Amino acid sequence: AAMSGDALAKERRDLRQQEARDKAEQEAGKVDLQAQWQDPMAGPGERQFASDLRNARGAPQSGARAEWRQQQTQKKELGKRTSMTIKEQRESLPVFKFRDSLLKAVHENPLLVVVGDTGSGKTTQLTQYLAEGGFGNNGLIGCTQPRRVAAVSVAKRVAEEVGCQLGKEIGYTIRFEDNTSPETVIKYMTDGIMQREILLDPELKKYSVIMLDEAHERTIATDVLFCLLKKALKRRPDLKVIVTSATLDAEKFSKYFNECPIFSIPGRTFPVEIMYSREPETDYLDAALVTAMQIHLTEPPGDILLFLTGKEEIDTSCEILYERMKALGPSVPELLILPIYSSLPSEAQSQVFEPAPSGARKLVIATNIAETSITIDGIYYVIDPGFVKQQAYDAKLGMDRLQVTPISQAQAKQRAGRAGRTGPGKCFRLYTEAAYQSEMLPTTIPEIQRQNLSNTILMLKAMGINDLLHFDFMDPPPTNTMLTALEELYALSALDDEGLLTRLGRQMADFPMEPALAKTLITSAAMQCSDEMLSIVAMISTQGEIFSRPRAEQQKADQKKARFHDPAGDHLTLLNAYQGYKGANYDFGWCRENFIQARSMKRARDVRDQLITILQRHRLPIVSCGRDSTRVRQALCAGYFRNAARKDPTEGFKTLVEGTPVYMHPSSALFGKAAEHVIYHSLVETTKEYMHQVTVIEPKWLVEAAPTFFKVAPTDRLSKRKKQERIQPLHSKFADADAWRLSAQTRPGKG
Ligand code: CDP
Ligand code: MG
Repeated sequence: AAMSGDALAKERRDLRQQEARDKAEQEAGKVDLQAQWQDPMAGPGERQFASDLRNARGAPQSGARAEWRQQQTQKKELGKRTSMTIKEQRESLPVFKFRDSLLKAVHENPLLVVVGDTGSGKTTQLTQYLAEGGFGNNGLIGCTQPRRVAAVSVAKRVAEEVGCQLGKEIGYTIRFEDNTSPETVIKYMTDGIMQREILLDPELKKYSVIMLDEAHERTIATDVLFCLLKKALKRRPDLKVIVTSATLDAEKFSKYFNECPIFSIPGRTFPVEIMYSREPETDYLDAALVTAMQIHLTEPPGDILLFLTGKEEIDTSCEILYERMKALGPSVPELLILPIYSSLPSEAQSQVFEPAPSGARKLVIATNIAETSITIDGIYYVIDPGFVKQQAYDAKLGMDRLQVTPISQAQAKQRAGRAGRTGPGKCFRLYTEAAYQSEMLPTTIPEIQRQNLSNTILMLKAMGINDLLHFDFMDPPPTNTMLTALEELYALSALDDEGLLTRLGRQMADFPMEPALAKTLITSAAMQCSDEMLSIVAMISTQGEIFSRPRAEQQKADQKKARFHDPAGDHLTLLNAYQGYKGANYDFGWCRENFIQARSMKRARDVRDQLITILQRHRLPIVSCGRDSTRVRQALCAGYFRNAARKDPTEGFKTLVEGTPVYMHPSSALFGKAAEHVIYHSLVETTKEYMHQVTVIEPKWLVEAAPTFFKVAPTDRLSKRKKQERIQPLHSKFADADAWRLSAQTRPGKG
């Protein structure tokens, strides 16, 4: 329909207002740059803390937190392990009595489900028994872990027990980090790594036994491995598959695995007294910290385990508690506050396993990694706020998002159980009994039913598995989730009109990263900016923090970071930082000076090297585009066109796909700057929905990058410039198609 004169006038007025606002914002941005930005993570200032504890000795001294960090890095005060020898320790584990019968069961059965409480010795002992029983003579003994931290820490522990150097007989492989050698007999790895290996070798000829450990976690990769290993067994009668679980879902596993036998290791647990909150807590974090202090000050000896949802929360809590303890002065017994989460450096991780020195109490603050994946001895008290941060597919955003959600009853039981390993314990649930009974799901929904599947489907297609409808999933994902993933892969040109893998799609499957990032990198080779993109992708893939921002020196850190800021946004800011690092000859001192995490940079360099080999394998050229960043940004659009947002006249941005309001994260190089159209790498929800890693783009690049996804809206009367900007997503190609695309029935053969 033609636009009325009024509408046109309004449009112009809006535009002018917008320009004025942009300008004002730009001005504000200039002033703002030097000012400190507030982390949107609810910080100490926004929370009310137990004032009685805090005011015990007047105001907290500044610098206490920095001190806590220092204390953290000096592990000297930590005591020695118990006096038991390693042999005695091994023989004291519940699994030890079953060593021979376990070996017999493995000899007799290709498939075996092993159930046993956390800490009974499944992960560290079974692999060793298998090696001792000769299973390592004709192939590797592989053991998968859902978490990277667990893979590394367990491998370390086993190497210690065996008495070898880590990486020799006992090794581990996690993404971008292979610590194995030709001598390796027992290899721990993430389930993601095994999934990649099975893509290259569906029969897993290198392995004689595969232990799918922590199967109760039901990660997507483990679920997919269930089917693929079942398939592999048909062609490899000599292969042994062991599935272990810490919970009671063994029957279900056995049923799925051809009614295979279940081997139970009787637990050795003590009763745990459970305490609920009388009223719902308004602030679980505050409640948790107060509870921790109360336990420390009033309960008999015994270490404490507190479950929080993520790194920021854990770090902040550690600092606050340290401050509070300091304020209490030397009259109260010492409290050793130790964090554990997956991105923590491994030296710091191993600290949580060391016993506290006598007279002191240990408080471990952990993500749900301590729920089942790792076991810390000596825990008598568990504090369970009832939340976990997990990935879930957000249909409104069309992507996965990390969300803090309530745990399931099964998880609550598991958490409580952690208090009863050394003796009778106590679990403080910071939610009401009514909430436990009526609001928590009995068991956690498997990842495969709640997460984006584009990665998984791309991999299955690359393995020649096209008939996804009849794929033997233990719990099939919802059809809609599969359709969304297929649609996404189609929009990325990884699949063709018939839902079959394209050449590009096959290439993408070879890169160990999300399809959008793989596409971006591959496209950058054609766009002659792969040298730059390699650095950006490597920096993003390190997943660690790049720019550090210590609380005591925030302003200085912000100023240093601002020197890397690129007017085009965060991706190029990352590139600038990497170039700086390279220019300084990869010097750690340079990193320190610039408030850049040396560890993350080293990792980025390693990742970059590994990505180069994959590019070379595919004969994709590594070329630099020089100073003009346009092509880099265009290549980013090739992968992330879905994550496009447009400035909203009122405030913030709106996504192009769904019109969801999203905001610039205060740490972005573009914060407070004028930017009309942007793309972002991810969304993180804290107090608002924040875009992370944001880059300015031109809307026409989106149409060029994904012509099947966007179209230019018909706009007769608008200016040429406006016309180009008027783009909108096409309606879903797959949503109204039948589910036939799930299978490749249109093409005979494969499947
Ligand atoms: O796999 P499961 O939960 O059955 O037990 P595990 O991980 O094999 O742990 C058995 C024991 O090994 C634990 O009780 C810990 O004492 C010890 N362990 C350790 O000291 N350090 C590690 N990184 C892992 C386990
Ligand atoms: Mg285990």
